[in-house]
Amino acid sequence: MTNACDDLPCRREFLQTAVCVGVAIGWLGLSSSAAEALPVFFTEGVQSGSETRFPIPPVDSANVDRTAQVIVARAQGHVYVFALSCPHENNVVKWLPKDHRFQCTKHDSRYQPDGVHTSGRATRNMDRYVIRRDGDSVLVDLHRWIQSDKDPAGWAAATIAV
Ligand code: FES
Repeated sequence: MTNACDDLPCRREFLQTAVCVGVAIGWLGLSSSAAEALPVFFTEGVQSGSETRFPIPPVDSANVDRTAQVIVARAQGHVYVFALSCPHENNVVKWLPKDHRFQCTKHDSRYQPDGVHTSGRATRNMDRYVIRRDGDSVLVDLHRWIQSDKDPAGWAAATIAV
């Protein structure tokens, strides 16, 4: 399997640049009741060896782990784990349930539920993490994420069918 970190910035660097994400994370400041009204939820991964374990979302939804800075998304029979930051300038990407798409909070780049870029300043799809299924969980290697322009095949394969 391709090591997505070989030609990518290290995780620490990624997290440093993602600090700005926290500035824009106000959209996540939904009250719990408001969050329940939307197919946007919060989740928290659990360390499982060298991977992080998340439950497979039972319905189409975007599930945000603010600590890990990832979105566990289920859409149209597939699960993906995306970086929370936009590939353009690392600002947070939000899920717009009404429009059924992701959208950057800074320059409004738009992405399909599978992370495919459809418009805006970004020049690639949302970054996907390497994942695998383990029963009702998705295991994520938070040290290995894939950029669609550098590894299109690896990016396409970074999903599990549910
Ligand atoms: S930071 Fe997302 S489009 Fe510029």
